[in-house]
Amino acid sequence: MKKVILTGVRPSGNLTLGNYLGAIKNFVDRQEQYDSYIFIADLHAITSPKDPQKLKEAVYNCVAMYLACGVDPKKTIVFKQSDVLEHGTLGFIMTFQTKMGELSRMTQFKLKSQQQTKEGVDTGLFVYPTLMVADILLYNTSIVPVGKDQQQHVELTRDLAERFNKRYGQTFTMPDVYVAPVGNKILNLQNPLEKMNKSDSGDNKGTIFLMDDIEVAKKKIMSAKTDNLAHVHFDEENQPGISNLMSILSKITDEDFESIEKRYEGKGYGEFKKEVAEVVAKTLAEIQAKFKQFNNKDMLDKILSNGAIDAQKVASQTLKRAANALGLN
Ligand code: TYM
Repeated sequence: MKKVILTGVRPSGNLTLGNYLGAIKNFVDRQEQYDSYIFIADLHAITSPKDPQKLKEAVYNCVAMYLACGVDPKKTIVFKQSDVLEHGTLGFIMTFQTKMGELSRMTQFKLKSQQQTKEGVDTGLFVYPTLMVADILLYNTSIVPVGKDQQQHVELTRDLAERFNKRYGQTFTMPDVYVAPVGNKILNLQNPLEKMNKSDSGDNKGTIFLMDDIEVAKKKIMSAKTDNLAHVHFDEENQPGISNLMSILSKITDEDFESIEKRYEGKGYGEFKKEVAEVVAKTLAEIQAKFKQFNNKDMLDKILSNGAIDAQKVASQTLKRAANALGLN
């Protein structure tokens, strides 16, 4: 039997180059080796109030983008989290296995709750990780490819799976996180101390969206903040901007940092940025051409409804096992 790979994206805005390089590409590269599940984490998108119509559109957009990035629904089960009710139930159960302190220590919670101090912090933000725990455990997942920012949540999943198995008997498979060595934290091009995010405070100049106009995307790379050391060199601490562009280039082309450094010895940043811009432009052009082809709601609905049936079969077994272990049925 093949092991299971699973990942998900929150439909909270247009997908970025960070989402693609940090998670989706790593999933796509492995979808044939594993039993593969990819989902749209729409329940995770309602942790704060959302415009319902925009959320629906974002879900379609996210599925079409998965396909455009190479997810093959013949090889991978593609589904929407809210279609499989077991996520909510197991999420609820796993919340009860968790200490307040464990959730308070989550870096994402600490960061995001700071931005919500005015009107009070949403509970959704706090219990967000335990729903992720359920997402992962329901499918007997062995490997979870995510960006660096989500690593802690997968580690929490391991802790809770182990705690549950110890208390109630072997129920869950222990998942491993896969954070790729290169491109696990693509940085904002204008502020390379921050992660590239779907929501970009600096009028989107620091974020490459997968649907960006190609010329606009190239300009964003050309005007990326760097430094005045005039030396293409991988040094995340002292040259975060250049290192970020090197990571983007290396992740797309597979060329290692040493080789990039050698090619650019004695050359300026302009030439280097131009190459990165061209490589990114080519990647976006390929994705966008496929996106157009897949952006068909009837087809996407079909993929999602088939995916939900397949996913639910596995999820319901796991939930039954967990409920049995707890003495709930
Ligand atoms: P989300 O929607 O914030 O991001 C989706 C995936 O993209 C990765 N990512 C990045 N990687 C590198 N550089 C970046 N700048 C960058 N920005 C985002 C994220 O690490 C993530 O892997 N909670 C998750 C969705 C989720 C999930 C799950 C993932 C819900 N349940 C279960 C895996 C397994 C999230 O909000 O990702």
